[in-house]
Amino acid sequence: MKAFNSNNVIKKQFSLVFVKFAVCFLVLGFAYRLFLSNFEQFSQIEVNHTVFVSNDTLPPPVTVSEPPVAVNLPENQTLLNGKCDLFIGDWVRDPSGPVYTNATCYSIESHQNCMKNGRPDTEYLYWRWNPRDCELPRFSPKKFLNLMRNKSFTFIGDSIMRNHVQSLLCILSQEEQVDDVYHDEQYKSRRWYFPIHDFNLSVIWSPFLAKATVFEDDNGVPTDITQLHLDKLDDAWTGEFDNFDYVVIAGGKWYLKSTIYYEKDKIVGCHNCPGKNITQVGFEYAYRKALNSTMKFITSSKNKGYTFFRTTTPDHFENGEWNTGGYCNRTRPFKEGEVDIGYVDEAMRKIELEEFERASEFGLNMKLFDTTVLSLLRPDGHPGVYRQYHPFAVENKNKKVQNDCLHWCLPGPIDSWNDIMMQML
Ligand SMILES: *[C@@H]1O[C@H](CO)[C@@H](O)[C@H](O)[C@H]1NC(C)=O
Ligand SMILES: *[C@@H]1O[C@H](CO)[C@@H](O)[C@H](O)[C@H]1NC(C)=O
Ligand SMILES: *[C@@H]1O[C@H](CO)[C@@H](O)[C@H](O)[C@H]1NC(C)=O
Ligand SMILES: *[C@@H]1O[C@H](CO)[C@@H](O)[C@H](O)[C@H]1NC(C)=O
Ligand SMILES: *[C@@H]1O[C@H](CO)[C@@H](O)[C@H](O)[C@H]1NC(C)=O
Ligand SMILES: *[C@@H]1O[C@H](CO)[C@@H](O)[C@H](O)[C@H]1NC(C)=O
Ligand SMILES: *[C@@H]1O[C@H](CO)[C@@H](O)[C@H](O)[C@H]1NC(C)=O
Ligand SMILES: *[C@@H]1O[C@H](CO)[C@@H](O)[C@H](O)[C@H]1NC(C)=O
Ligand SMILES: *[C@@H]1O[C@H](CO)[C@@H](O)[C@H](O)[C@H]1NC(C)=O
Repeated sequence: MKAFNSNNVIKKQFSLVFVKFAVCFLVLGFAYRLFLSNFEQFSQIEVNHTVFVSNDTLPPPVTVSEPPVAVNLPENQTLLNGKCDLFIGDWVRDPSGPVYTNATCYSIESHQNCMKNGRPDTEYLYWRWNPRDCELPRFSPKKFLNLMRNKSFTFIGDSIMRNHVQSLLCILSQEEQVDDVYHDEQYKSRRWYFPIHDFNLSVIWSPFLAKATVFEDDNGVPTDITQLHLDKLDDAWTGEFDNFDYVVIAGGKWYLKSTIYYEKDKIVGCHNCPGKNITQVGFEYAYRKALNSTMKFITSSKNKGYTFFRTTTPDHFENGEWNTGGYCNRTRPFKEGEVDIGYVDEAMRKIELEEFERASEFGLNMKLFDTTVLSLLRPDGHPGVYRQYHPFAVENKNKKVQNDCLHWCLPGPIDSWNDIMMQML
């Protein structure tokens, strides 16, 4: 409690941390990318300790000219057309705790199974999101499944999408047992079926949404620079799109990867591609173009379903990066005003809001799922060192301890995303 009484101090300290963080983030763009691509490979259910590549395989740091800026949280935009804005509010104590645990949900990915992995503190489990101007009821699996009878619901995006779908799955499996009907080789794209309700739930791996060629070896280490077509979409999701009644879709952090960009099959620029003699256009350019293509597709699709467009999800590495000792061991949420959003998340969210706004002019059947700010307030919800099983056990003392301050513990704050989703339905 004490630490949170002196708001200003914390705010200042944390702003500093975030400015530092922004600088590190940009400078270590390359390193971060490796981190991401390595995270993606750990979709398997088993614990796997061959984790991150060692320092010496990292490419040299890249200097970026953009100035790091810390931006304040959005203005007090409480009421939207007289309706409650579900995304403005704060986290309040909720003694009832999570509806599932490591013992009642069997499908939690090992790297997010913080309870099983020995995370000692449990405070992070006892908060719920409380919108400022309305009541947000707890997610009701019964109601949700009834609503989903004879329907199909899919999540399209990167590993945060998978994190989200697992949370939903854990909650729903308290009500009805689910059949695991499909997974690809790496458990990145998956489908589940709820027989009693004739309900299909799936997750489609498409971290860029746009058509990408990623070159990686078996360990997820890039062997060549990614090629991304900003005007073409990934047919992993577009091919099936019309079959879905409900969709959650998001872009995100994969746009920070070293990438060469194409439009009309011609190179138009790149992001972090030293030695390639290609104009650096930055990830913002690419992200905007790709979201425009995505929205164009969705607005012109015949699908009469309902699409949630999710905004970027922030990470909480402090005092360093994933590979330079950055950690996230806070055990309480922030209050509004105690934290500033980082440069990259601010930039991404701005593009997302603008492109969404633009697409809304086409009267599309799409809702903004703006989880960025509420998630920013939960530095305590990440696995941190508990991404691995008992990291400090004697038998692990020679293993490097790696922090994950990007994905979310299950159970954890991401469960609240479902409360909001349910309310929007
Ligand atoms: C762990 O992952 C590495 C790299 O993907 C793989 O070679 C190894 O077989 C895995 N080990 C286990 C126990 O799954
Ligand atoms: C990684 O680099 C840091 C800083 O250069 C160094 O202190 C650390 O020992 C290195 N770790 C490994 C595993 O090489
Ligand atoms: C922000 O919203 C609260 C609650 O509706 C209101 O009392 C307050 O005056 C608002 N502040 C500003 C600066 O608009
Ligand atoms: C769940 O986590 C607790 C610690 O929080 C641990 O004692 C227990 O063995 C775990 N159970 C399973 C099934 O993983
Ligand atoms: C399921 O939905 C499809 C498409 O909306 C409809 O054609 C079909 O009759 C429904 N089946 C049942 C059993 O309700
Ligand atoms: C669920 O998916 C299967 C396989 O794609 C399909 O045959 C079935 O019609 C789907 N059911 C619903 C309700 O969408
Ligand atoms: C870089 O590209 C430009 C324009 O395509 C070309 O004129 C120049 O020779 C290239 N430089 C190198 C070092 O390849
Ligand atoms: C995509 O960008 C074009 C050109 O800037 C614009 O005219 C169009 O409205 C955008 N489409 C959507 C769906 O945002
Ligand atoms: C968090 O970790 C840092 C670095 O290991 C340590 O100095 C600090 O005391 C820790 N804070 C908490 C609340 O555990």
